Amino acid sequence: MPFFEPELHLTEEEFRLIRDLIYHHCGLFFDEDSKYLLDRRLLQRVTLHNLSGFREYYQFLKYDRKKEQEISDIMDLLTTNETYFFREAFQLRAFTDEIVPELAKLKQRDRTLRIWSAGCSTGEEPYTIAMLLLELGCFDGWRIDIVGSDISHRVVQHARKGVYGKASFRATEERYIKRFFTESEGGYRINDEVRELVTISQMNLFDQNRLALLGKMDVIFCRNVIIYFDETSKKKVIEAFYNTLRGGGYLLLGHSESLMNITTSFALKHLKNDMVYQKTDRTSGGVVT
Ligand SMILES: C[S@@+](CC[C@H](N)C(=O)[O-])C[C@H]1O[C@@H](n2cnc3c(N)ncnc32)[C@H](O)[C@@H]1O
Repeated sequence: MPFFEPELHLTEEEFRLIRDLIYHHCGLFFDEDSKYLLDRRLLQRVTLHNLSGFREYYQFLKYDRKKEQEISDIMDLLTTNETYFFREAFQLRAFTDEIVPELAKLKQRDRTLRIWSAGCSTGEEPYTIAMLLLELGCFDGWRIDIVGSDISHRVVQHARKGVYGKASFRATEERYIKRFFTESEGGYRINDEVRELVTISQMNLFDQNRLALLGKMDVIFCRNVIIYFDETSKKKVIEAFYNTLRGGGYLLLGHSESLMNITTSFALKHLKNDMVYQKTDRTSGGVVT
């Protein structure tokens, strides 16, 4: 009898089954090089549920009555949640100097501004947007809705709590910390003035029913999220963004992301500080096939 239990490893077939199940759920695609990562991260779930191995774990993910909870739990293990306040300063300058003034004029009548931070991780992005709007100070009497959403339950909880450590402030000017945060619980808590503009939700970008409930947005930030998707998933998500934006609305992606080969439904607009995507009408294009 061996002294130690033999270690469990994903077989090629189990890897493909579980990888495809995850892919269809949330668009995250694990290539052959990520097999080890999936193997190590999911082994803890196999052990936790006292299962005999990955084949039984796959059956669990597919058929168990708690499968939805389990797949939600593994999102916490499989997503990359790196983020910080005031990330990608050039783009934020384009937002405050050019996009917001345009919106302030355009929406003068209904005095409502709706912005979605899709894949917001621990919340630094939607709170950054809120701080920038408050600093601009031109929206008194307006209804400002900033929706932050993420698939991972763990990061959504963190965003709702709104307490941050040093790493989140690596690109934050001191004056923002002074104005918008209060020291607490070994970190800094975002003040209510900012928090009141932001709603945080747990949401999978591939959940059409949830997305349909969001209502129209003026701007969508989806930065450093679609980088983890393959082309088919990117097309699905960008199509959902197109339907969620009002005509002329803006889509802001991360600096290493683009809509090349994905769709021609957005115009690339050259602003002083950055290039951004703007929703055009469908007569000029659509999803690239
Ligand atoms: C690297 S973080 C980006 C955070 C922030 N947008 C930024 O740029 O700093 C990517 C986030 O996308 C989320 N994500 C990945 N797939 C998702 C999906 N299908 N639905 C919703 N969120 C998803 C992850 O959970 C993760 O928190």
